[in-house]
Amino acid sequence: MLIHSASQLLTIAGAPQRGRDLGRLSIVPDGAVLIRDGKIAAVGNTHELRQTHPLEETLDARGHVVMPGFVDPHTHLLWAGDRAAEFEMRLEGKTYLEILAAGGGILSTVYHTRQASLQTLLDEARPRLREMLAHGTTTAEAKTGYGLQTDAELRMLQALLLLDAEGPLEIVPTFLGAHAIPPEYKDDPDGYTSFICSQMLPSVHQWWDAHLPNRSLPFVDVFCETGAFSLEQSRRILETAKSMGFPLKVHADEFANLGGASLAAELGAISADHLVKTSPADITALARSKTVAVALPCTPFGLAEREYTPAQAFLDAGSLLSLATDLNPGTAWGGNMQFAIALACRYMRLTPAQAIVAATLNAAAAINRADVIGSLEPGKQADLLILNVPDYRHLGYRFGSNLVQTVIKRGEIVIG
Ligand code: NIG
Ligand code: FE
Repeated sequence: MLIHSASQLLTIAGAPQRGRDLGRLSIVPDGAVLIRDGKIAAVGNTHELRQTHPLEETLDARGHVVMPGFVDPHTHLLWAGDRAAEFEMRLEGKTYLEILAAGGGILSTVYHTRQASLQTLLDEARPRLREMLAHGTTTAEAKTGYGLQTDAELRMLQALLLLDAEGPLEIVPTFLGAHAIPPEYKDDPDGYTSFICSQMLPSVHQWWDAHLPNRSLPFVDVFCETGAFSLEQSRRILETAKSMGFPLKVHADEFANLGGASLAAELGAISADHLVKTSPADITALARSKTVAVALPCTPFGLAEREYTPAQAFLDAGSLLSLATDLNPGTAWGGNMQFAIALACRYMRLTPAQAIVAATLNAAAAINRADVIGSLEPGKQADLLILNVPDYRHLGYRFGSNLVQTVIKRGEIVIG
């Protein structure tokens, strides 16, 4: 298939974009993309590609932006139960961490998710996935973390893999057994930390080897936070996971600066996420490492908080900055990357071009997939969007409506 005559073809070619380099869209005016066998075969000017491929089936994108599909590198897609009442409690003055400390918050979702069958988990997730896809997300990371016991965590992992196999939205799984201290260990967080290290991680590894011997291991993530896992506990879990060969991610500095970002950098984590309260020293440490900084602007927005990831400081320091939604029932019930971009432009002062790269190529780097997705270059997977606007700057500028007209996943039109 040859998509042609795009008013702007955003190829975002090249390596993930660090620091002040962020925002190179590599725009081809009157652009065309040739797709073969689910992959990008050629990218260029319409006239050229039509001449070299005269017999190809065509799709006219006149007046439309064509760009890579969004990659959402941080979601908690799978859960059961409902927390609308907590939203109201927060508006009335309770804080997120107070609700968690009182056994609500993540633990309320854990209570319901533990009781949910595999089928229920799948049924709950599918409409969320459809909405994400319709808004242009073609690949998403998704975490376990509402089971917090081995069986329930493995059930979540299994659900994520089944949803990935169902497609078309591709799912990259993360094991987040260290999302909260479960009620059984309320007074013994070190005991739960030991349990994760000695029981859960080996079980996940074994389960994975038995079911998916040819697929690389899932990420292991930790919620390093006051009221969740301390820096020392996070270190134990991440070091154990690393020694077993798992790639790492860290929830760091969402509410308090515990040093999780520096820990992520030190251990070679693929990403450190949230990064709202990150200290200048931690920003420098992260910028000097390969770890991608993932900002989640829907989270402060969802919590009605004023403080966002200090993106300008991250860019000045030379970080690899990316964007994600954090889709979850507690802090950010929304999986729309266009909305994350709109918030990042306003509250992190990114330009639309910077936010777009952060939501595509750099987001692919945040799940270690920048070699296969995130840009439109020959050899990469044909995951792309046709927008219903002629200029990319409408992304960020506009909000509350969907600018995605057509979604193509691995060369197939799946929306539009
Ligand atoms: O990224 N911070 C930890 N996890 C989620 C919230 C999960 C929840 O509240 O259920 C987050 O904000
Ligand atoms: Fe999260």
